[in-house]
Amino acid sequence: MKSISQTVAAAALAALPLVNAITPEGMLAAPRRGAAVANPSGEFAVFSNSNYSFEEHESTTIWERLDLMSGEISTWSTDTNISEFVFVGPTNTSILYINATNEEGNGGVSLYTADAADLSTASLVASLPAPYSGLKAVATESGDIHFLVYALAYPNGTAYNADTAETPASTARIYTDIYVRHWDYWLSAERNAVFGGVLTSGDGGYSLSGELTNYVTGKCNATCAESPVQPFGGSGDYDISPDGSQVIFLTKNIDLPLANFTSSQVYHVPFTGTVNDSVPINPIGATPGAEGASAAPTFSKDGSKIAYFQMNGIDYESDRNIIYVANADAEDFNVTKLAGDWDRSPDVLAWSNDGSVLYVAAPDLGRERIFPIPMSATADFVPKNITDEGVPAAMQVLPNGELLVSDSKIWSSRDIYTVNSQGEMTNMYLQSNLLDEALSGLGPEDVSEFYYSTNSSEIDQQSWIIYPEGFSEDETYPLMFIVHGGPQGAHFNSWSTRWNFKVWADQGYVVIAPNPTASSGWGQNLTDAISRHWGDYPYWDLVHAWDYVNTTLPYVDTVRGVAAGASFGGYMMNWIQGHPLGRRFNALMTHDGVTNSLSDYATEELWFINHDQGGIFTSPNETSTYYRWNPILYYENWATPHFVVHNDLDFRLPVSEGLMLFNMLQVKGVPSKFLNFPDENHWVLNQENSLVWHTEIFKFHNYYSGVSNASSPY
Ligand SMILES: *[C@@H]1O[C@H](CO)[C@@H](O)[C@H](O)[C@H]1NC(C)=O
Ligand SMILES: *[C@@H]1O[C@H](CO)[C@@H](O)[C@H](O)[C@H]1NC(C)=O
Ligand SMILES: *[C@@H]1O[C@H](CO)[C@@H](O)[C@H](O)[C@H]1NC(C)=O
Ligand SMILES: *[C@@H]1O[C@H](CO)[C@@H](O)[C@H](O)[C@H]1NC(C)=O
Ligand SMILES: *[C@@H]1O[C@H](CO)[C@@H](O)[C@H](O)[C@H]1NC(C)=O
Ligand SMILES: *[C@@H]1O[C@H](CO)[C@@H](O)[C@H](O)[C@H]1NC(C)=O
Ligand SMILES: *[C@@H]1O[C@H](CO)[C@@H](O)[C@H](O)[C@H]1NC(C)=O
Ligand SMILES: *[C@@H]1O[C@H](CO)[C@@H](O)[C@H](O)[C@H]1NC(C)=O
Ligand SMILES: *[C@@H]1O[C@H](CO)[C@@H](O)[C@H](O)[C@H]1NC(C)=O
Ligand SMILES: *[C@@H]1O[C@H](CO)[C@@H](O)[C@H](O)[C@H]1NC(C)=O
Ligand SMILES: *[C@@H]1O[C@H](CO)[C@@H](O)[C@H](O)[C@H]1NC(C)=O
Ligand SMILES: *[C@@H]1O[C@H](CO)[C@@H](O)[C@H](O)[C@H]1NC(C)=O
Repeated sequence: MKSISQTVAAAALAALPLVNAITPEGMLAAPRRGAAVANPSGEFAVFSNSNYSFEEHESTTIWERLDLMSGEISTWSTDTNISEFVFVGPTNTSILYINATNEEGNGGVSLYTADAADLSTASLVASLPAPYSGLKAVATESGDIHFLVYALAYPNGTAYNADTAETPASTARIYTDIYVRHWDYWLSAERNAVFGGVLTSGDGGYSLSGELTNYVTGKCNATCAESPVQPFGGSGDYDISPDGSQVIFLTKNIDLPLANFTSSQVYHVPFTGTVNDSVPINPIGATPGAEGASAAPTFSKDGSKIAYFQMNGIDYESDRNIIYVANADAEDFNVTKLAGDWDRSPDVLAWSNDGSVLYVAAPDLGRERIFPIPMSATADFVPKNITDEGVPAAMQVLPNGELLVSDSKIWSSRDIYTVNSQGEMTNMYLQSNLLDEALSGLGPEDVSEFYYSTNSSEIDQQSWIIYPEGFSEDETYPLMFIVHGGPQGAHFNSWSTRWNFKVWADQGYVVIAPNPTASSGWGQNLTDAISRHWGDYPYWDLVHAWDYVNTTLPYVDTVRGVAAGASFGGYMMNWIQGHPLGRRFNALMTHDGVTNSLSDYATEELWFINHDQGGIFTSPNETSTYYRWNPILYYENWATPHFVVHNDLDFRLPVSEGLMLFNMLQVKGVPSKFLNFPDENHWVLNQENSLVWHTEIFKFHNYYSGVSNASSPY
């Protein structure tokens, strides 16, 4: 067997100039399209489109109009002050939009009505003194508009505006309870709240009537209600009934301490009500087992029902989402489960027009597929998917009953199409890979998958294969092995601007992206099995995946292989570094991973680590999983060159984890490099930063895999 260095040298000499189908720069600059929103009569849809210029160092956003009859796409508006809009008002083209500024220029926003067919008709209806967003609106029988928005609010209920708020003399933050920060912000007295307002119709226009109503602030027990739930909650955390008479919102359970639990409830309140009128639809105890996080509360189109998801586990963020349907009637919510035994965890829902079917999207075998569930579905009902590839960002039921789907795939950043309830695609309107220069040449042929047996699960496990540009089975390409985060989660057939498989492959690799123990979409057992098993099951699975590749895929050169992972994937890189699999890679890359699991309690979501390590942190003796699965226990084995990324605003895993990893590698003399962004969190989102991220990592890995013939990894 040739030594790695001989192979690398030979490969470097033989290296042909690679044709990059997609470069980091091209991917980062390429258009990013939002989800399409159709007008009430289903004639056209509007979506946002942003791209980035590395010359101008700025992004450009426009709104595009998709004619659902002809498929024609045209520019709808280039005014970036239109930050959000909804179709509402007297005609099928009437809209209400948020202008991201107001005339006072005080950090607030304004509301305008307009005709989508002629935006020059726009008319100012309200100037609001805070940066409200998340607009939802309906027309009432009288012709008024009832709308909902959200913003941070002071404990007294007044919306918070950072631009006009007084700056305290000291920057001190003081806490007497755990949960002092989350994701990338420190907890303060201001919390999100849903506000409702009335636009009264008259004189051929609308005017804001009275003050906005805050439905959330002040509902307190062990903790105070907050909706949407930060940091990822948005307008999906609340809804308004189609007649404008009722509001629902979800908040974390106010009877439990904020830090220990994921439990959340859906509250119901009359539109004209106050926080004191709000009652939970799903208090703990009302439905046996239902104690966990709720999601996606949504009124049916006639307003008679409310659908939502809820997990059972009171502190388990990755438990199975179960579908519930309630009557929109505070006298008798009559909450019932739909297809309660289905071993999938849906997370997107849409009502059919007549309310007889709920469409849900759920992780399913590496995709997120759409399934119709009839209201008559019993516990043992087995849903049948009507879509196949991709992961939907949104779906909307059109007047003709078809679904307008906006999704993405590994090879396309946005596809927009319609599908009927039988699973027939009726129109394919847009495929980014056929439109965008940077994506040209990308297609389904770039991607494949395999299943392999492993010793941790009864079921075979899946892995994606992504081929480089110009791939030929008769050639060999070094292995790029990418481990996903979560750990509950999956490598999906979806587009990513942070971990874009095709961008990695087109450096000259075959990318192998396995879905080991903890992955979602293969049933709850595989997801749940990770608890207390960070260091064994997924590690064994990855070894099995590697062995499968080594013995089965002749075009993959494992001798030149390299690996990378973020978050749990970063932890796994650090674990691999101390274990035999680490010796089979020429370089590793950890993005924001755990280095010392005895530091797990420096994270912000204690419910997560308590669940995953099988209990709260106690004395760190050898039987504790905190101790047992600690990567630094295997420090003596560390030897593989290692690229470390860790960002200052990562409160999930503090930057000390990356510093410790890098310092330990350096002290041991293991070739290593540290990349830090002071302004990024657990993710790198800024395009300029992301370009550096890609460039530096590829320089390192391409050197150690021999893909480049550079003389240094730095
Ligand atoms: C970005 O979008 C703007 C506005 O649509 C367009 O003029 C420009 O050509 C686009 N640039 C790229 C690189 O796609
Ligand atoms: C947005 O509004 C501001 C005034 O508040 C104006 O200066 C700016 O040009 C507007 N932007 C666009 C893209 O129209
Ligand atoms: C909206 O469009 C639908 C379907 O074309 C039509 O039946 C309805 O009358 C329209 N409504 C208005 C107010 O124009
Ligand atoms: C947005 O508001 C600004 C005033 O703050 C106004 O100048 C501008 O015309 C508005 N733009 C739109 C599209 O409503
Ligand atoms: C609520 O508190 C904020 C911050 O202290 C204050 O600016 C605002 O005037 C208060 N609102 C009311 C209605 O008291
Ligand atoms: C407040 O929370 C406690 C538990 O901390 C619970 O026993 C009590 O029922 C709650 N009170 C109300 C009014 O919900
Ligand atoms: C919740 O957290 C508090 C500390 O804020 C702790 O005292 C308490 O034991 C925890 N409760 C549970 C049930 O974990
Ligand atoms: C309550 O739900 C059950 C099961 O879906 C249904 O059979 C029953 O008719 C409902 N009762 C009311 C009052 O809606
Ligand atoms: C449903 O999923 C299966 C894979 O489980 C796939 O083969 C089939 O094409 C999908 N059905 C539709 C209608 O897309
Ligand atoms: C999940 O695991 C439980 C307990 O081990 C077992 O009873 C059940 O059959 C498993 N379910 C599936 C779908 O494999
Ligand atoms: C990988 O496969 C090669 C060729 O089949 C074999 O010689 C080698 O031992 C395998 N490596 C490992 C670590 O199993
Ligand atoms: C050792 O750790 C386990 C698990 O964390 C804990 O239950 C046990 O009490 C600890 N033993 C001692 C002697 O501290």
